Amino acid sequence: MRIIMHRLAFGCLLVLGSLLVAASANSSPVIGVLTQEVYTDGLISRHFENKTSYIAASYVKYLEGAGARVVPIWIGRNRSYYEDLMHKINGVLLPGGATWFNQSNGYADAGEHLIQLAVQLNDNGTFMPVWGTCLGMELLVYKLANGTDHRISCRASGMALPIVFKEDYKQSRLFNASREDVVAVMVANNVTYHYHQFCYTEADFVRDKLNQSWRVVSLNNDLDGVEFISTMEHLKYPFYGVQFHPEKPLYEFVRSSIPHSAAAVLSGQYLADFFVNEARRSPQTFANETEQARMLIYNYKPEYTSILGSSYVQQYLFNNKEMQLEEVGSEGGDDGDDSPSYYPGNAYGNGNGAAALLSIGSGPLLVLLAMGLFSIDF
Ligand SMILES: *[C@@H]1O[C@H](CO)[C@@H](O)[C@H](O)[C@H]1NC(C)=O
Ligand SMILES: *[C@@H]1O[C@H](CO)[C@@H](O)[C@H](O)[C@H]1NC(C)=O
Ligand SMILES: *[C@@H]1O[C@H](CO)[C@@H](O)[C@H](O)[C@H]1NC(C)=O
Ligand SMILES: *[C@@H]1O[C@H](CO)[C@@H](O)[C@H](O)[C@H]1NC(C)=O
Ligand SMILES: *[C@@H]1O[C@H](CO)[C@@H](O)[C@H](O)[C@H]1NC(C)=O
Ligand SMILES: *[C@@H]1O[C@H](CO)[C@@H](O)[C@H](O)[C@H]1NC(C)=O
Ligand SMILES: *[C@@H]1O[C@H](CO)[C@@H](O)[C@H](O)[C@H]1NC(C)=O
Ligand SMILES: *[C@@H]1O[C@H](CO)[C@@H](O)[C@H](O)[C@H]1NC(C)=O
Ligand SMILES: *[C@@H]1O[C@H](CO)[C@@H](O)[C@H](O)[C@H]1NC(C)=O
Repeated sequence: MRIIMHRLAFGCLLVLGSLLVAASANSSPVIGVLTQEVYTDGLISRHFENKTSYIAASYVKYLEGAGARVVPIWIGRNRSYYEDLMHKINGVLLPGGATWFNQSNGYADAGEHLIQLAVQLNDNGTFMPVWGTCLGMELLVYKLANGTDHRISCRASGMALPIVFKEDYKQSRLFNASREDVVAVMVANNVTYHYHQFCYTEADFVRDKLNQSWRVVSLNNDLDGVEFISTMEHLKYPFYGVQFHPEKPLYEFVRSSIPHSAAAVLSGQYLADFFVNEARRSPQTFANETEQARMLIYNYKPEYTSILGSSYVQQYLFNNKEMQLEEVGSEGGDDGDDSPSYYPGNAYGNGNGAAALLSIGSGPLLVLLAMGLFSIDF
């Protein structure tokens, strides 16, 4: 009897041992999250002096909640900064938000460096996953299409929808290993939160041959019934895009339209777990513990911004000194949070469409929006 128990214990140790060896590749990956320019006359500028970039804290929590640590990636730096960092981190998350793609020294320029470097790293044999959420997914497609904008306008601001998988979704890396019960929850409930005014369609992907590089995994319809791509993955690189916000059901409590059901949380967590597992496959490390410690997001404290009217509960806010920038252009961009209409007191039960958000927005923002110059794709 004792012998059998010993054998069992030994067997368990062996199994555990092999798991640990597999995990030791990189069990706690470090993922870079791109910062984004703060709108010059926006809510953040009004409440915080000299802050020029931000990260919505929900993206940080999203990755941390799956076992990763986060390093902020600064906008406005030169190529060698991005090149150096991209040889140390294990993945990149391009968050949603509201900014132009053609504004210099901001989110889109930094994103271009990161995407180009991720392509090179993967081509050179170093696994480097990239995740784009909402505007981040739009940027990923835009940059890999060599700067041709294939987006169309769509009306999807403040909607919770199920995941509508394509027939062959099981062939995707994202879902080939997913459990049937998890998939069942995703298709039967309003688990994805959409807040975007642009989107990509499958028809455009076929017409412009983007379907040769991207697999469309799921589709949804906007308020006007227009079908758009809601989940995609690159066929060659470990690049993933979701038009919706998996981090919001878990970590943002600013609009009543954001679903917080067990189903929505499970779905968001599935995607976080998937991406962080991808990052675990990356072998890269910082030069040493000290260098890593100095770069981690723990060096900064998030602010409680929804209480000021922001559509993010908490944000990390950075000034040029923190980003080691001498001077950053003040051409604009936006924290996307100009509406004072989302105080905790009236957030719930308020209309949640784009109109409600923009009705009290600042003049310049409205003009820019009317001119269609940038995306509000939180
Ligand atoms: C903002 O920048 C100005 C000019 O450099 C400086 O005088 C001021 O102390 C800064 N404020 C904060 C809160 O850092
Ligand atoms: C890039 O910027 C850093 C400072 O952030 C500077 O030390 C370095 O010389 C710059 N490199 C190039 C190629 O301009
Ligand atoms: C950005 O693009 C729009 C047209 O889409 C153009 O009107 C605007 O001037 C551009 N902004 C910059 C900073 O180049
Ligand atoms: C990829 O390899 C090429 C050729 O060796 C090299 O020039 C380039 O810097 C590498 N890219 C990265 C991001 O390491
Ligand atoms: C973008 O440019 C690269 C390099 O020139 C080329 O290999 C690729 O096919 C282009 N992609 C698209 C979608 O045009
Ligand atoms: C899912 O796809 C990946 C990449 O193609 C592959 O390595 C993995 O074995 C697949 N998993 C399952 C369960 O089919
Ligand atoms: C999902 O949302 C739509 C639109 O609000 C609603 O009609 C539908 O009943 C919801 N479905 C579920 C399963 O909650
Ligand atoms: C892209 O779509 C076209 C039209 O449906 C199809 O003929 C082609 O095979 C697709 N390409 C890929 C790589 O899926
Ligand atoms: C850690 O790495 C950095 C960057 O390469 C280097 O400057 C520093 O001296 C190293 N520190 C230690 C304790 O090795």
